[in-house]
Amino acid sequence: MFLKVAIIGLGYVGLPLAALLAERLDVIGFDIDASRIKKLEAGEPVLSEPGLDEALSKAVGSGRLRFSPNPADVSDSDVKIITVGTPYDERAKDVDYSFLDSAIEIVCGNIKKGDVVALKSTVPVGTTSERLVKALRAKGYAVPEDVGVVFSPERMVEGQAIRDFKTLPNIVGASDERSFSIYSEVASVMGGRIIRVSNPETAEMVKMTDNYARFAFLGITNELALMCEKAGVDVLEMLKAAKEDYARNAGLMIPGPGVGGSCLNKDPFILKANMAKKGLELKIVDAAKEVNYHMPTHVYLMVKEFRNNAKEVAIAGVAFKGETDDTRFAPSLKINEMLKADGATVRLSDPYVRSVSGTTRDIYEAVKGAEVLLIMTDHKAYGEMDLKRVKSLMAQNPLIIDTRGIIKRDEAERLGFEYHGLGRL
Ligand SMILES: NC(=O)c1ccc[n+]([C@@H]2O[C@H](COP(=O)([O-])OP(=O)(O)OC[C@H]3O[C@@H](n4cnc5c(N)ncnc54)[C@H](O)[C@@H]3O)[C@@H](O)[C@H]2O)c1
Repeated sequence: MFLKVAIIGLGYVGLPLAALLAERLDVIGFDIDASRIKKLEAGEPVLSEPGLDEALSKAVGSGRLRFSPNPADVSDSDVKIITVGTPYDERAKDVDYSFLDSAIEIVCGNIKKGDVVALKSTVPVGTTSERLVKALRAKGYAVPEDVGVVFSPERMVEGQAIRDFKTLPNIVGASDERSFSIYSEVASVMGGRIIRVSNPETAEMVKMTDNYARFAFLGITNELALMCEKAGVDVLEMLKAAKEDYARNAGLMIPGPGVGGSCLNKDPFILKANMAKKGLELKIVDAAKEVNYHMPTHVYLMVKEFRNNAKEVAIAGVAFKGETDDTRFAPSLKINEMLKADGATVRLSDPYVRSVSGTTRDIYEAVKGAEVLLIMTDHKAYGEMDLKRVKSLMAQNPLIIDTRGIIKRDEAERLGFEYHGLGRL
């Protein structure tokens, strides 16, 4: 059977997904943001992700991927995949469902019997049934007899999205056998295995588990970094030894200057709110939040401790993680504000970020005259910097604070830098 697919929401998830599915299937990419569609039609980049521009131009060139700002075009598909944002509404202590509900409305208004609707946006447990199935039934469609539904969580990591889409297993919770088999046919185009779970709720819970566990493990790892600073131990050396051939420590991660990105700053809190409604109070989320949300302040205090009156600071990396341009909840922006409030001049640099004004792509430009170089993002380019050149451009007695452990300490010290790492003073 030749399947046509519609992707609703062309962001960090929907866009690579559309490009990769178009390797074998006809794909229509729809987004409510008409300016985004215009750029995509003109072949202009709308977000930075390694390999994405090439994948998009190949898909568009093949004639199998087209874009539309017109909701009616979603009807020209057998499988409709929803990948819109599901932000957390801090005041309501719940998901802001506005994007999801509008996507569901568009799908329900442009559907035919036999279609399958797959939800890939991250949602609280029960959402596929309580919002998608409910809306379809309200329109007169029997589920699963007329229209099938699937929840399949998206688990890729920004900066390596293309690789993840091609290799990660696809977890599928379907309303029925037919929907499972149709959706699996679509998902298998990307390459990853299919793991079937009994129902959409189980698949929804898998995604929440991913981000709950990650947030908690980050809390533990960041606290380990703080402990290592007190103990005079190098946290990275210690973690390497603790994890080697010891699966029980597999969950431990690399400490960092704070938790950025949209997912970890919403999903643990969405899960907490969701469980509170079911009468279960989650404890670990709050403890991890306390540690993780303190990390930007901790890094700011490191700058104060080692160069109290620094007037010129260069920040290497604005994006919240390596090889992406995503600055949502980026710790570097918080630290930038704290340092500026102290009267310091801060120069931001990032090879990918275009959206933050004053950011230069050229790290050598940013470090000119700086007393402190604060490494905030694990972009590969920062591990490959010409430190000799950096030293020649910075002020006298330059200080590097490396929150990612990507600068070689020996080399930096040999060149005459003062060096301090997060968890490795
Ligand atoms: N970014 C990630 O790394 C990642 C990873 C796994 C899961 N997720 C989840 O995937 C979902 C999407 O995340 P994202 O980072 O791609 O979001 P995003 O903000 O980058 O993209 C969402 C897109 O949906 C569009 N949109 C909003 N309402 C729409 C509507 N009614 N119809 C059509 N388009 C609409 C927006 O214009 C935007 O382009 C979220 O639920 C997120 O939690 C994200």
